[in-house]
Amino acid sequence: MKEKLKQIRNKAESELKLITTKPELLNAKSKIIGKKSELNSLMKNIKDVAPEDRREFGQLINETKNYLQDLIDKRTIFIDELIYKEQVASSRIDLTMPGRKTVQGGLHPLTKTWREVEDTFLSMGFEIADGYDVEDEFHNFDALNTPKDHPSRNLADTFYVGDDLLLRTQTSTVQIRTMENNQPPIRIIAMGRCYRNDKMDASHSPVFHQVEALVVDENISVANLKDTLNIFAKTMFGKNTKSRIRPHFFPFTEPSAEIDISCVNCGGSGCRICKNSGWLEMGGAGMVDPSVLETCGIDPEKYTGYAFGLGIDRIAMLKYNIPDIRVLFENDLRFLKQYR
Ligand code: DAH
Repeated sequence: MKEKLKQIRNKAESELKLITTKPELLNAKSKIIGKKSELNSLMKNIKDVAPEDRREFGQLINETKNYLQDLIDKRTIFIDELIYKEQVASSRIDLTMPGRKTVQGGLHPLTKTWREVEDTFLSMGFEIADGYDVEDEFHNFDALNTPKDHPSRNLADTFYVGDDLLLRTQTSTVQIRTMENNQPPIRIIAMGRCYRNDKMDASHSPVFHQVEALVVDENISVANLKDTLNIFAKTMFGKNTKSRIRPHFFPFTEPSAEIDISCVNCGGSGCRICKNSGWLEMGGAGMVDPSVLETCGIDPEKYTGYAFGLGIDRIAMLKYNIPDIRVLFENDLRFLKQYR
């Protein structure tokens, strides 16, 4: 009996050694340990074995079966490796070739600035409001108190796309849209593209970006405006940055002002960037004209508000030391790569 099992083992060993494909292996498996295998028929003979020997007989057969199963498993792994090696050898991919480096992209300096501006105002409790790039005259001019004969309405300054439709020249339009639909307290910023019929040069582009802020509530004063501008300037350009407002005129604010920050290059002592004035002009501001509040359905007896508008492109240029606005729109990778 032991001899018989040994024979079975030896035979299986020498057979398996010759096998190199999966179908052959399957065949061999059923021959070696399958239902019709010699081993299985031995198992069936257990009833003919003397009862006292049955235990040992069963054990021996089981051991052999486990041993053979093990042999088959090992051969399976061997064949799998063989198949893999053949695939690698016959494929045209050279796995030893060095990889190609992928170049990682980065955010455009304008996008980075945009997000930083947005975060700064969000941290001060402002909400984001949205308007339309294509506007009507009412929201871009009339409601903002701009007289019918104001030069900015001229075709030479504004892109008209229809009878009463134009590309907004300022994000102040969103002031109107917000106040039409909301009662105070209002504290919003609106960021977006603006369009003006300007010739492109180092500091002008027909498409540019503004951030508009509007706060309307009881007891809002110029002090609140100045404080907000100060915090904004320090957050964006460093804690030593100062801001100031200078009297100016805008149709939709009274009083109106222009906003300056201390020169980010020289700190105020005077240099080429600030044309020796120590200050950089950043945008316009003012207290919302009572007639604008009224047009939008807000009671000017009860509420006051401030508003301002800043150029995002200008902020990006100062932050990233970019001397010419045009490079922001050209998407020259040699330029953009510097800001990855
Ligand atoms: N919209 C103005 C411009 O584009 C900037 C501005 C001035 C916005 C005064 C304001 C403001 O909100 O109060 O030149």
